[in-house]
Amino acid sequence: MPPTMSPSPSAARIAPSILSADFARLGEEVRSVVAAGADWIHFDVMDNHYVPNLTIGPMVCAAIRPHVDVPIDVHLMVEPVDELVPQFAKAGANIISFHPEATRHIDRTLALIRDHGCKAGLVFNPATPLNHMDYVMDKLDVVLIMSVNPGFGGQSFLHSALTKLREARARIDRWMQLGGQHIALEVDGGVKVDNIAEIRAAGADTFVAGSAIFGKPDYAAVIAAMRDEIAKAGTLAA
Ligand code: DX5
Ligand code: ZN
Repeated sequence: MPPTMSPSPSAARIAPSILSADFARLGEEVRSVVAAGADWIHFDVMDNHYVPNLTIGPMVCAAIRPHVDVPIDVHLMVEPVDELVPQFAKAGANIISFHPEATRHIDRTLALIRDHGCKAGLVFNPATPLNHMDYVMDKLDVVLIMSVNPGFGGQSFLHSALTKLREARARIDRWMQLGGQHIALEVDGGVKVDNIAEIRAAGADTFVAGSAIFGKPDYAAVIAAMRDEIAKAGTLAA
């Protein structure tokens, strides 16, 4: 089981959020969604402190790990962050992302994630400025733009996220053109078949979708429809 991130900047990844899965059948749910074409499993961790909801932790990550061979993309909506990093690394997480407001030392937390053998990501809420990226570009593997306020699945996509995606895309492209490492640009919240093309056109390469996929009877049909829409938006220039 060697989950790796795609090296191609123009790749489009679908990352179903298991927040909307049937938790009573989680092993089966993650196997089904991977069989349906999921590239990553998005794993939402909420602590009823940083966000007003409570979900799942490292034990559940370890429980689903043997069921899938794609990267597990852990989105930490917790405060503080650092204590959980080694626990999720041990539980088989591949990517660990956190919110800059939730840690005292952003640079240190990013380094901690990489020291534990995971890819590191920074998450931007709708009202959080992108400036937090500026001095840590070399330590980022993923930038995650929230297109809803974090805490719940099933919310509507906020259009302000499109502007932010374009800005983040420009920063990442500049960085990569100067010889920097590949950084994925992920979007999370309210992503559906009918808006994914414009989200792609704004620069996202990795698409979290919870209710749009797990709310439907045929996961493969939704993922295929999302890929069709993404293709319509054209290939991004790296
Ligand atoms: C929200 C979570 C999202 C959520 C997405 O705080 O981070 O990952 O599950 O769900 P949908 O796709 O239903 O908006
Ligand atoms: Zn999420």
